[in-house]
Amino acid sequence: MKNSCKIGIGDLSVTDHKLIIGGCDSTELAAKYGTPLYVFDVRRALRTAKSYVDVLRHVYPDFTVCYASKAFGCVGIYSLLEPLGIGADVVSGGELYTALKGGMPAERIYFHGNNKSRDEIEYAVESGVECFVVDSERELELVNEIAAKPQNILVRVNPGVEAHTHRFIQTTTPDSKFGFSIADGTAEQFIKSVATYKNVVFKGIACHIGSQIFEKQSFEIAIDKMTDFIVELNALGIAVERLDLGGGFGIKYVEEDRPLTPEEYMQNSASYLLSSVKAKNIVAPRLIVEPGRSIVGEAGITLYTIGAIKTIKNIKTYAAVDGGMFENPRPSLYDAQYTAVVADRADAERTHTYSIAGKCCESGDILIDGIKLPNLHCGDILAVLSTGAYHYSMASNYNRNLIPPVVAVMDGKSDYMVKPQTYEDITRNDCVPFTEVVK
Ligand code: LLP
Repeated sequence: MKNSCKIGIGDLSVTDHKLIIGGCDSTELAAKYGTPLYVFDVRRALRTAKSYVDVLRHVYPDFTVCYASKAFGCVGIYSLLEPLGIGADVVSGGELYTALKGGMPAERIYFHGNNKSRDEIEYAVESGVECFVVDSERELELVNEIAAKPQNILVRVNPGVEAHTHRFIQTTTPDSKFGFSIADGTAEQFIKSVATYKNVVFKGIACHIGSQIFEKQSFEIAIDKMTDFIVELNALGIAVERLDLGGGFGIKYVEEDRPLTPEEYMQNSASYLLSSVKAKNIVAPRLIVEPGRSIVGEAGITLYTIGAIKTIKNIKTYAAVDGGMFENPRPSLYDAQYTAVVADRADAERTHTYSIAGKCCESGDILIDGIKLPNLHCGDILAVLSTGAYHYSMASNYNRNLIPPVVAVMDGKSDYMVKPQTYEDITRNDCVPFTEVVK
């Protein structure tokens, strides 16, 4: 008899005590592909992405949803999202290249970043990206100089909203490296100067107040400040056709997290923006939103094999996994919290407390510090949940560990989205210098 239940994060369920994702048994995935392994539930990500488009279609007249590539960039993600009419936010030549290779049309690509290089700008101009989100005077000069025909630009501004999230992922504090400050007049000054450049067309303003934000109030404050600024610009005779509010919509990592749904985030921001433009008597700009984490985050899990288990008397018990900060640097960077289940007894009682350690040579390489789990044994498969965003994209080869592959799952089938790295891959670009001299 099958025994099924739901798990409180993503689209995960348990059948016969086993964790199921995208219709696949996670223990079989681990056996087939090995661990550590990123698993990505395609339907879950597509459904979330589509919900952004669907809700905005109902509540706002003119909008663009741009997927924030930084959350999870690989060729396959663009091929999956493109048919939904979604665009992409890219922040480097590498993200741009990947997006184009995945079939994302250049005319749906917004190029962000606070220090784009000349090469990157040349590449973006050549590719015909839709818009540069300009974040410095130097960038404006470079775009103007390189462009053969006028390029659309948005100006990244800092509206000064202290969103309630980890300080390393807040982006509009007064001392932020991003954007031109509205408060001190720099943004207005800069935007006025845009008219003096003949190869750029000012289309509007952009901000991004931070990431993993739960309260709608933070977005409302941003909208207030951005629409006040539009009023100011209009008074100078400067039209604002587009308003990019960035991303930042939070997801669930642990049981206590209470994010809004994408529908709620969008419904709220779009209707708040509409009433704001009405009250301030300004033209409703095209609304651009850039969700990253919320599209892919809960669609991903990471599977590990438990190795060494070590108890330090009266202190704690470590259970070490075959991954760590090289494939998930978030706990050490942001003190990020996660939950996990044992893949073959996902509904078992949690009787023991463990610190889940990574295998990197750093004391700080702890993925979860103190989690209740069933009694663990060497060889158990552990699934850490909500790892679809900022995991693969932030992975490194630290300690020359291999970046795990990404396996996509859908309707009970699995397929590579990113193939495994090999030792040959990680030494491919290595050279032995000065061989003639050093003998
Ligand atoms: N748009 C802009 C201009 C951004 O800078 C970002 C994220 C996004 C959109 C997407 O934000 P999301 O919807 O994914 O929250 N590595 C950190 C997150 C850094 C986010 C940086 N910018 C983490 O792992 O939490």
